[in-house]
Amino acid sequence: MPNTVVVGAQWGDEGKGKVIDMLSERADIIVRFQGGNNAGHTVVVGGQEFVMHLIPSGILHPGKLCIIGNGVVVDPKVLLEEIDSLKKRGVEIDGNLGLSDSAHLIFPYHRALDKLREAIVGPGKIGTTGRGIGPCYTDKAARVGIRVADLLEDEVFRRKLQMNLEEKNELFVKLYQAPPFEFESIYREYCDYRERIAKYVIQVPIVLNRAITQGKSILFEGAQGTWLDIDHGTYPYVTSSSATAGGACVGTGVGPTRIDQVIGVVKAYTTRVGEGPFPTEFPPPLMEQIRSKGKEFGATTGRPRRCGWFDAVLVRHSILLNGITEIAVTKLDVLDDSPRVKICTGYRLGEKFLEVPPAVIDRWSQIEPVYEEHPGWLMDTSQVSCFEDLPPAARRYLKRLEELLRVKISIVSVGSKREQAFHV
Ligand code: IMP
Repeated sequence: MPNTVVVGAQWGDEGKGKVIDMLSERADIIVRFQGGNNAGHTVVVGGQEFVMHLIPSGILHPGKLCIIGNGVVVDPKVLLEEIDSLKKRGVEIDGNLGLSDSAHLIFPYHRALDKLREAIVGPGKIGTTGRGIGPCYTDKAARVGIRVADLLEDEVFRRKLQMNLEEKNELFVKLYQAPPFEFESIYREYCDYRERIAKYVIQVPIVLNRAITQGKSILFEGAQGTWLDIDHGTYPYVTSSSATAGGACVGTGVGPTRIDQVIGVVKAYTTRVGEGPFPTEFPPPLMEQIRSKGKEFGATTGRPRRCGWFDAVLVRHSILLNGITEIAVTKLDVLDDSPRVKICTGYRLGEKFLEVPPAVIDRWSQIEPVYEEHPGWLMDTSQVSCFEDLPPAARRYLKRLEELLRVKISIVSVGSKREQAFHV
């Protein structure tokens, strides 16, 4: 298999975990390149549901090397819980998992800051997952973050933790009127984590580039989605990392010339969790219907997802931003009961017709989506295993998406189980 990046082309939760699971069979190494345990990738294998927050979904394929890259922010408590839980369910971890020495670590003060900042801004909040992701990336950019390699060297770790606490405790006490964090308990807790994670630590750029030179294939697993990307998303209603394909290079130490293709994953409709604009959002009755049929509740926080029609304007721009070469469409079956299905093909902003989303966030609330309407298929597609067996109206819907996006649909998924998907 060519070296492949898999990214979400909407606002995350597109079903990337399932697509990664399908493609992992043909890859040698699977690597996560950004985000942290704000992500939740769900895969159903043999009737068992697995939700992975940090470890690449490829771990469910025995013998594949799964790597957490330097672009990921790692909460070691969550990582170790995930390792334990997978081991208990018979998944082989030791020998199959690598953790970058340059990944930044999430600390309890990051989680606290995330929640306090959201509470203080009130209505202007982002609706974060509260996992400390933003504050950890803030420290990374401010050059005060603590990386995995720092944790491994006791003196360095002590010094950096002390320095961070001095500064952060000022914030907690003086700005937020919250209790300060105590050095000793965090230090001890993280020394325990060090004992357990040390054996997984590797130099990811060396491992990956050597593997590519040896002809092995790498699957780069994106988290969140293009419209949550820190640069290209609906800023400031975004996450704090590069969720677009370029993030795969930065977040692993593999150069762009060594990547062959980019698969964009989309749902057959659109969802978003948290605050921020959403032009094609459903009105209430339809919202509940699709949310319940699609089980649209966050895999990480359990929050209900907002749902809406497929937005071809957004996805077309995602294709450009990521250099997407193929599309995987998931959850087609969720539209099975809809008598009519709509696709947003353009945005109207006052007198203007936009083909590209606006850069200023305030303009988004004034957008009027322009729709085309298609007849629904009103048939169960969840057992279909090839494109030709889909009802004609479902085939026409997918063909119309291909026309509008000008990219081939190569995978269609019609349910959560591993076998409910096919290549086109
Ligand atoms: P954060 O990543 O926790 O800082 O949250 C920032 C925004 O990204 C919020 O709107 C979250 O709901 C959203 N978000 C973060 N991770 C995911 C994800 O895995 N799927 C969908 N939305 C996400």
